[in-house]
Amino acid sequence: MCGIVGYVGFRDCSDVLIDSLSKLEYRGYDSAGIAVFEDGKIKDKMQAEHSKPEGHCGIGHTRWATHGEPSDINSHPHGNKRVSIVHNGIIENYKEIKEFLAAQGYGFESQTDTETVAKLLDYYYDGKPLETISRVIAEIRGSYALGIMFRDFPDRVFAVRKNSPLIVGLGEGENFIASDVPAILKYTREYYLLEHNEIAVLSADKVKIYDVHGNMLEKQVQVADWDIDAAEKGGYEHFMLKEIHEQPTAIRTTITPRICEDMVDFSEIGMTDEMLNSYRQIFVVACGTAMHAGMVGKYVIEKLARVPVIVDIASEFRYREPLIEKDDLMILISQSGETADTLAALALAKEVGATTLSIVNVKGSSIARESDMVIYTHAGPEISVASTKAYAVQIAVMYMLAFKLAYAKGKITKDEYVSLVKELKTTPDYLEKILVNTDYCKFVASKLMNASSLLYIGRGLDYALSMEGSLKLKEISYIHSESYAAGELKHGTISLVTEEMPVIAVATQKNLLEKTVSNIKEVKARGAMVVLVCGESLEVENDVADYLIKLPEINDLLMPILACVPLQLLAYYTSVLKGCDVDKPRNLAKSVTVE
Ligand code: G6P
Repeated sequence: MCGIVGYVGFRDCSDVLIDSLSKLEYRGYDSAGIAVFEDGKIKDKMQAEHSKPEGHCGIGHTRWATHGEPSDINSHPHGNKRVSIVHNGIIENYKEIKEFLAAQGYGFESQTDTETVAKLLDYYYDGKPLETISRVIAEIRGSYALGIMFRDFPDRVFAVRKNSPLIVGLGEGENFIASDVPAILKYTREYYLLEHNEIAVLSADKVKIYDVHGNMLEKQVQVADWDIDAAEKGGYEHFMLKEIHEQPTAIRTTITPRICEDMVDFSEIGMTDEMLNSYRQIFVVACGTAMHAGMVGKYVIEKLARVPVIVDIASEFRYREPLIEKDDLMILISQSGETADTLAALALAKEVGATTLSIVNVKGSSIARESDMVIYTHAGPEISVASTKAYAVQIAVMYMLAFKLAYAKGKITKDEYVSLVKELKTTPDYLEKILVNTDYCKFVASKLMNASSLLYIGRGLDYALSMEGSLKLKEISYIHSESYAAGELKHGTISLVTEEMPVIAVATQKNLLEKTVSNIKEVKARGAMVVLVCGESLEVENDVADYLIKLPEINDLLMPILACVPLQLLAYYTSVLKGCDVDKPRNLAKSVTVE
């Protein structure tokens, strides 16, 4: 979490930094700060409302608080008149460093771990930035992407990273550092990816990259394929709404290049049917929404391919001594590709020799780079903290994997395989139809907005989907909500149901319909207001649901791709109607690079 930027060039540095930071707010927005060289001095201004420093070289930061409350004093940059830094990550041994520095006479103003790094740089600084940085990174433990300025070098920005993302943007007469591509897209699409502990030295006309021993390195220029508009709201009131509407395109762009003659083609990653056939079991490890995409994948893979799939929350997987072995496949799902727990789970799988396959949206991200194979989702940048289009493409890829695996295992015929792929290809068209009119979801949201607690229920795939619907609603509307396997309700949770507690029931799976409808009747009998999301052919008695959200019908297995949309819209409009900050809900950050 946290976003960092840096600039050196011909433009007004403060303007560039503030503009770039605004593209990284999804990484944290507890506070922001910049430092710019003005007349050879480091001018450090908190927040944009103060008068901005004038200059052409500087660094900036948007914060998701880890150590120390959100406040001006804890805002980055940190440092003193000689050195100033911005930091994304966590320094695990900051307490010992702080004690050491305090013994040398250093005082500390903030409660942050970052300030200790700034002071340690100052302590070792001997006029040679590269040596100083190398010395400091040899002492600090944890994760860091650092943007650094030394007073003696007023036309340079220094940067280094380990376990936190950082790119170096390459312009004409200007260069940049940033935590992520959207921050630089307005200025350039070309960038370098920094490997762990490579040190970048930026001036206006060149970028040099060194290893810790001071050897200069040759780097390959990367070119971003996201366009500028992708990181703008494009006329929508919120990024979340825009991203919900981008789902048909995102799915098309993700699946089309991987379909050949109506069969899934993963040759880009060298994945053959023989390989797929060889795995004993599959682990799917992820966090948040990505984990919910894994749940959908589990149902589909197990149903079609008959291979056991264990879905785990990454932070749990790591510490439960998982029974993963070298014959297993681990699928890691991550929008950002930087989530710390998912990354650590990946390392654990590699240690035991399991094959790792990641499904990632951000090119060149840590998870993508460190896994054996990567399937990139092509959702484009997702800015809203609440994930929508990234989820849709993650499940689309899980479907492709399931179809391919099922065919490789001989569990479905070629005709069945081709027909499933064909149906998957039609899902964007259906989504477009659903998205033409979202008014009814807005109306239903107006019935939910005053609730203080909600239940989402479903069975099978609908249960997997309910988890995501419930998370979406609670994270952006702050209404407490739980998802429950519909059949499990009567084992305790139903005692919570009153007329005060609306229930959102998802019932798209025909084979489970009767059972789910019975469960709906149980909550209805206890006074709950029921919103039912189902296929259009479902005929239910008038008294089963108060509000019916009907969807076009496709193969039941694929219904989650369609049904996720009304759930996202219900969450979105509830949040809007409550006046919440939809794109930047409190306490959250989009990219969670701490454990
Ligand atoms: C954060 C975000 C979620 C996301 C999760 C995993 O909690 O707010 O939207 O699902 O991290 O992120 P990843 O980038 O690994 O998909």
